[in-house]
Amino acid sequence: MTQTLSRTLGLVCLASFVSLAVIETAASDVTGRWVVRVPNGDGTFRETVFVLNQSGSTLTGSVINPSSEQPFVEGTVDGDAFTFASAPASNPRRTVYRGVIKGDDVTITLIRPGRPDQVLTARRGPDTAGRLPERIPPPVLHPVPDNGLARTPPMGWNSWNRFRGNVDDATVRAIADAMVANGMRDAGYVYVNIDDTWEAGRDASGRILTNRKFPDMKALADYVHGKGLKLGIYSSPGPFTCAGYEGSYGHEADDARTYAAWGIDYLKYDWCGAARLYADTDMPALYQKMGDALRATGRPIVYSLCQYGRQDVWKWGADVGGNLWRTTGDIADNWESMSRIGFNQDEHGPFAKPGHWNDPDMLEIGNGGMTDTEYRTHMSLWALLAAPLLAGNDLRSVTPEILSILTNREVIAIDQDSLGRQGRRLKKDGDMEIWTKPLAGDALAVGLFNRGATTAQAAIRCEDLQVCNGQTRDLWTHSDLGPFPSSYAVSIPSHGVTLLRVAPR
Ligand code: GLA
Repeated sequence: MTQTLSRTLGLVCLASFVSLAVIETAASDVTGRWVVRVPNGDGTFRETVFVLNQSGSTLTGSVINPSSEQPFVEGTVDGDAFTFASAPASNPRRTVYRGVIKGDDVTITLIRPGRPDQVLTARRGPDTAGRLPERIPPPVLHPVPDNGLARTPPMGWNSWNRFRGNVDDATVRAIADAMVANGMRDAGYVYVNIDDTWEAGRDASGRILTNRKFPDMKALADYVHGKGLKLGIYSSPGPFTCAGYEGSYGHEADDARTYAAWGIDYLKYDWCGAARLYADTDMPALYQKMGDALRATGRPIVYSLCQYGRQDVWKWGADVGGNLWRTTGDIADNWESMSRIGFNQDEHGPFAKPGHWNDPDMLEIGNGGMTDTEYRTHMSLWALLAAPLLAGNDLRSVTPEILSILTNREVIAIDQDSLGRQGRRLKKDGDMEIWTKPLAGDALAVGLFNRGATTAQAAIRCEDLQVCNGQTRDLWTHSDLGPFPSSYAVSIPSHGVTLLRVAPR
């Protein structure tokens, strides 16, 4: 009886579904929420939702990615075909979308300048597709007590620059092994940080789940700890991370507790996915929320704020519990990006102090897009800036030259100096820049940089540095230069550096 009823009901449902589909197809109305699900290869999917509203031959709507919703322009419908664009034709970088509807599927071709066309298949989704959860009001601000960590800038490795979404348990273990074997750990690089793409969804109780690239985070933490290293992880105050994975929105306390239970020692907390629910002015409150949550676990967890230097984060990052905060957008592995970021950090200098550091982004040293000379400049500049030193290359296959740059202990000592002062620009003369960093014991680090395209001479008088006669050491040639002369001149190759340490006699 039950069987018969359900079969009958099934037939009725099928019949009404077919008739509905026929009506819709006949009307050729593209109005709806069309969902593209692209597998990430780890059991999770990246969703893009096309929200289309047809009115006659006019189409309006938006394209929703996990961390953005962009209205489109110039939408038109012609029978079963439609078209719209991300920006007006005057924008040379616009994407044009051409779609064809076939029942509950649409095929959408993305046409972008200089790139091959991409064809996506979208399915008609439910009314909830792409919709955000309700906005939780940000908490009232209060100072989060200092957690006592990161008295010198954190050092370690992060997966993003080199591996992007291709990081997994085996790679992290192999990187940890390599850091022990190649001397990185002993040079001070102790944090092994997993960036975005480890997350899956949540279980029924709201507990964050790892995707199949990370079968057992606790076991991984135990492994990394067993090597004398620490494990870092990544999340977002929004419902989604930048790569579209599960964020900590509404689960800050749950996630902090989960991280503590796994044995996590460092959290990078990345804004992206919060931008659809909150204004930039809400940043301090949302970062404070996780600052409080981490603190409540009782586990020492370094807290890294990643919101690209917006809202003058250097002025409030420490108050919300941050040990470091990004001051810029993402670095790329080329001279233009690295030098633009590195030489643009002067104004943040006064805000760095033990426990609280400006973060001009992770190192690109060894990723192949710059020369060794440029990588030495990268390392020198980051050390002068008292920047976190998070290597971003594949440490399983590092060359001796790159390793010698990353593990130059005399340069690392400038970064890790106990005074905790950030270097500032002393002088700029065309392509020549001279930066200094006060060190403990009245010593001074001096970086002479040539940003130009040809070898050039840099010169500085000892009075300008107030180090006349100070004992001088070249930290890249590892040689003592004797007392600092009244006038010091040095030839510096294009994009190169001379890094000195001058100590009182
Ligand atoms: C942002 C951050 C990067 C990295 C990616 C991961 O772009 O700035 O450092 O964490 O997200 O998706």
